[in-house]
Amino acid sequence: MKIGILISGRGSNMVAIVDAVKSGEIADAEVTVVISDKADAAGLEKARERGVETVVVERNGRSRVDHDAEIISELQKRSVELVCLAGYMRLLSPSFVQAFPNRIINIHPSLLPAFPGLDAQHQAIEAGAKLTGCTVHYVDELLDHGEVILQREVMVSEDDTSETLSARILEQEHTVYVEAVRDLVCKQKASMFS
Ligand code: GRF
Repeated sequence: MKIGILISGRGSNMVAIVDAVKSGEIADAEVTVVISDKADAAGLEKARERGVETVVVERNGRSRVDHDAEIISELQKRSVELVCLAGYMRLLSPSFVQAFPNRIINIHPSLLPAFPGLDAQHQAIEAGAKLTGCTVHYVDELLDHGEVILQREVMVSEDDTSETLSARILEQEHTVYVEAVRDLVCKQKASMFS
Protein backbone atom coordinates (compact mmCIF):
# COMPACT_ATOMS: atom_id res chain seq x y z
CA MET A 1 0.00 0.00 0.00
CA LYS A 2 1.30 3.41 -0.91
CA ILE A 3 1.11 5.81 2.04
CA GLY A 4 1.25 9.60 1.99
CA ILE A 5 1.78 11.48 5.26
CA LEU A 6 0.73 15.10 5.89
CA ILE A 7 2.53 17.12 8.56
CA SER A 8 2.77 20.70 9.75
CA GLY A 9 5.52 20.49 12.37
CA ARG A 10 7.72 18.16 14.41
CA GLY A 11 6.72 14.98 12.62
CA SER A 12 7.38 12.41 15.35
CA ASN A 13 4.31 10.34 14.40
CA MET A 14 5.42 10.48 10.75
CA VAL A 15 8.86 9.19 11.83
CA ALA A 16 7.21 6.35 13.79
CA ILE A 17 5.30 5.24 10.67
CA VAL A 18 8.25 5.63 8.28
CA ASP A 19 10.55 3.68 10.64
CA ALA A 20 7.95 0.92 11.12
CA VAL A 21 7.63 0.55 7.34
CA LYS A 22 11.42 0.47 6.95
CA SER A 23 11.88 -2.13 9.71
CA GLY A 24 9.14 -4.34 8.25
CA GLU A 25 6.88 -3.91 11.31
CA ILE A 26 4.40 -2.55 8.76
CA ALA A 27 4.85 -4.94 5.84
CA ASP A 28 3.70 -4.52 2.23
CA ALA A 29 3.67 -0.74 2.47
CA GLU A 30 5.73 2.18 1.29
CA VAL A 31 5.70 5.82 2.43
CA THR A 32 5.89 7.48 -0.96
CA VAL A 33 5.66 11.11 0.10
CA VAL A 34 5.56 13.43 3.11
CA ILE A 35 3.72 16.66 2.42
CA SER A 36 3.87 19.73 4.65
CA ASP A 37 1.88 22.94 4.49
CA LYS A 38 4.79 24.68 6.28
CA ALA A 39 8.19 25.07 4.63
CA ASP A 40 9.90 25.18 8.04
CA ALA A 41 8.30 22.03 9.47
CA ALA A 42 11.02 20.17 11.39
CA GLY A 43 9.60 16.86 10.19
CA LEU A 44 10.63 17.55 6.58
CA GLU A 45 14.33 17.06 7.34
CA LYS A 46 13.55 13.88 9.31
CA ALA A 47 11.68 12.49 6.29
CA ARG A 48 14.53 13.39 3.91
CA GLU A 49 17.10 11.78 6.23
CA ARG A 50 15.04 8.61 5.89
CA GLY A 51 15.05 8.82 2.12
CA VAL A 52 11.38 9.79 1.79
CA GLU A 53 10.40 12.35 -0.83
CA THR A 54 9.06 15.59 0.64
CA VAL A 55 6.80 18.21 -0.90
CA VAL A 56 5.85 21.59 0.55
CA VAL A 57 2.43 22.91 -0.42
CA GLU A 58 1.87 26.22 1.33
CA ARG A 59 -1.52 27.82 1.48
CA ASN A 60 -0.26 31.23 0.26
CA GLY A 61 -3.59 32.98 0.73
CA ARG A 62 -5.49 30.51 -1.44
CA SER A 63 -8.89 29.13 -0.53
CA ARG A 64 -8.87 25.85 1.38
CA VAL A 65 -10.32 24.08 -1.66
CA ASP A 66 -7.56 25.35 -3.98
CA HIS A 67 -4.85 24.49 -1.46
CA ASP A 68 -6.31 21.01 -0.96
CA ALA A 69 -6.59 20.51 -4.74
CA GLU A 70 -2.82 20.85 -5.08
CA ILE A 71 -2.23 18.40 -2.22
CA ILE A 72 -4.73 15.92 -3.72
CA SER A 73 -2.91 16.17 -7.04
CA GLU A 74 0.51 15.51 -5.38
CA LEU A 75 -0.96 12.46 -3.65
CA GLN A 76 -2.72 11.15 -6.77
CA LYS A 77 0.41 11.64 -8.91
CA ARG A 78 2.12 9.14 -6.63
CA SER A 79 -0.89 6.77 -6.50
CA VAL A 80 -1.23 7.19 -2.73
CA GLU A 81 -3.85 4.85 -1.31
CA LEU A 82 -3.74 5.76 2.39
CA VAL A 83 -3.34 9.31 3.72
CA CYS A 84 -2.07 9.65 7.30
CA LEU A 85 -2.45 13.02 9.00
CA ALA A 86 0.32 13.38 11.58
CA GLY A 87 0.17 16.75 13.29
CA TYR A 88 -1.34 18.31 10.16
CA MET A 89 -2.91 21.48 11.50
CA ARG A 90 -5.60 22.11 8.88
CA LEU A 91 -9.17 20.97 8.50
CA LEU A 92 -9.64 19.12 5.20
CA SER A 93 -12.19 20.36 2.68
CA PRO A 94 -15.08 18.05 1.68
CA SER A 95 -13.43 17.60 -1.73
CA PHE A 96 -10.29 16.22 -0.07
CA VAL A 97 -12.29 13.79 2.07
CA GLN A 98 -14.27 12.66 -0.99
CA ALA A 99 -11.12 12.13 -3.06
CA PHE A 100 -9.94 9.44 -0.59
CA PRO A 101 -13.10 7.85 0.84
CA ASN A 102 -12.28 5.92 4.06
CA ARG A 103 -8.63 6.34 3.17
CA ILE A 104 -7.66 9.27 5.41
CA ILE A 105 -6.77 8.72 9.05
CA ASN A 106 -5.60 10.99 11.86
CA ILE A 107 -4.10 10.75 15.33
CA HIS A 108 -5.44 12.94 18.13
CA PRO A 109 -4.09 13.22 21.70
CA SER A 110 -7.30 12.43 23.61
CA LEU A 111 -9.89 9.71 23.87
CA LEU A 112 -12.31 11.13 21.29
CA PRO A 113 -15.05 12.26 21.39
CA ALA A 114 -13.60 13.87 24.55
CA PHE A 115 -11.43 16.96 24.07
CA PRO A 116 -11.41 17.56 20.32
CA GLY A 117 -9.51 20.56 18.91
CA LEU A 118 -6.32 22.25 20.03
CA ASP A 119 -4.44 21.57 23.27
CA ALA A 120 -6.33 18.37 24.04
CA GLN A 121 -3.86 17.48 26.80
CA HIS A 122 -4.35 20.88 28.46
CA GLN A 123 -8.12 20.49 28.11
CA ALA A 124 -7.92 17.12 29.91
CA ILE A 125 -5.98 18.63 32.83
CA GLU A 126 -8.31 21.64 33.06
CA ALA A 127 -11.34 19.31 33.14
CA GLY A 128 -9.80 17.30 35.99
CA ALA A 129 -9.87 14.10 33.90
CA LYS A 130 -8.22 11.10 35.55
CA LEU A 131 -7.95 9.27 32.26
CA THR A 132 -7.17 10.47 28.76
CA GLY A 133 -5.13 9.01 25.90
CA CYS A 134 -4.99 9.06 22.13
CA THR A 135 -7.20 8.08 19.22
CA VAL A 136 -6.59 7.01 15.64
CA HIS A 137 -9.72 7.75 13.62
CA TYR A 138 -10.98 8.07 10.07
CA VAL A 139 -11.18 11.67 8.92
CA ASP A 140 -14.41 13.26 7.80
CA GLU A 141 -15.30 16.88 7.16
CA LEU A 142 -15.60 17.75 10.85
CA LEU A 143 -12.77 18.49 13.28
CA ASP A 144 -11.42 15.40 15.12
CA HIS A 145 -14.55 13.50 14.13
CA GLY A 146 -15.04 10.30 12.18
CA GLU A 147 -15.10 6.62 13.11
CA VAL A 148 -12.63 5.57 15.79
CA ILE A 149 -10.10 2.93 14.69
CA LEU A 150 -7.98 2.44 17.83
CA GLN A 151 -7.54 4.15 21.17
CA ARG A 152 -4.95 3.93 23.91
CA GLU A 153 -5.55 5.07 27.48
CA VAL A 154 -3.13 7.18 29.55
CA MET A 155 -3.69 7.97 33.24
CA VAL A 156 -3.48 11.60 34.34
CA SER A 157 -1.44 12.16 37.54
CA GLU A 158 -2.21 14.84 40.09
CA ASP A 159 1.08 16.58 39.34
CA ASP A 160 0.88 16.36 35.54
CA THR A 161 1.47 19.49 33.49
CA SER A 162 0.47 19.74 29.82
CA GLU A 163 4.10 18.96 28.96
CA THR A 164 4.48 15.82 31.10
CA LEU A 165 1.08 14.49 30.05
CA SER A 166 1.74 15.28 26.36
CA ALA A 167 5.04 13.39 26.52
CA ARG A 168 3.41 10.25 27.95
CA ILE A 169 0.55 10.42 25.45
CA LEU A 170 3.00 10.94 22.57
CA GLU A 171 4.81 7.68 23.43
CA GLN A 172 1.48 5.88 23.10
CA GLU A 173 0.61 7.77 19.91
CA HIS A 174 3.67 6.36 18.19
CA THR A 175 2.76 2.75 18.95
CA VAL A 176 -1.00 3.02 18.41
CA TYR A 177 -0.59 4.83 15.06
CA VAL A 178 1.81 2.16 13.80
CA GLU A 179 -0.59 -0.57 14.96
CA ALA A 180 -3.55 1.08 13.21
CA VAL A 181 -1.68 1.52 9.93
CA ARG A 182 -0.43 -2.08 10.09
CA ASP A 183 -4.00 -3.35 10.64
CA LEU A 184 -5.34 -1.30 7.72
CA VAL A 185 -2.61 -2.53 5.39
CA CYS A 186 -3.30 -6.15 6.46
CA LYS A 187 -7.05 -5.72 5.92
CA GLN A 188 -6.50 -4.27 2.47
CA LYS A 189 -4.21 -7.15 1.56
CA ALA A 190 -6.74 -9.70 2.86
CA SER A 191 -9.52 -8.09 0.81
CA MET A 192 -7.41 -8.36 -2.34
CA PHE A 193 -7.30 -12.15 -1.93
CA SER A 194 -10.89 -12.73 -0.80
C1 GRF B 1 0.42 14.90 18.14
O1 GRF B 1 0.17 15.06 19.50
C2 GRF B 1 -0.83 14.52 17.39
O2 GRF B 1 -1.69 13.72 18.16
C3 GRF B 1 -1.50 15.86 17.14
O3 GRF B 1 -0.42 16.72 16.86
C4 GRF B 1 0.77 16.23 17.47
C5 GRF B 1 1.77 16.04 16.35
O4 GRF B 1 3.03 15.64 16.82
N1 GRF B 1 -2.47 15.76 16.09
P1 GRF B 1 4.12 15.16 15.78
O5 GRF B 1 4.25 16.27 14.73
O6 GRF B 1 3.66 13.88 15.17
O7 GRF B 1 5.37 15.01 16.58
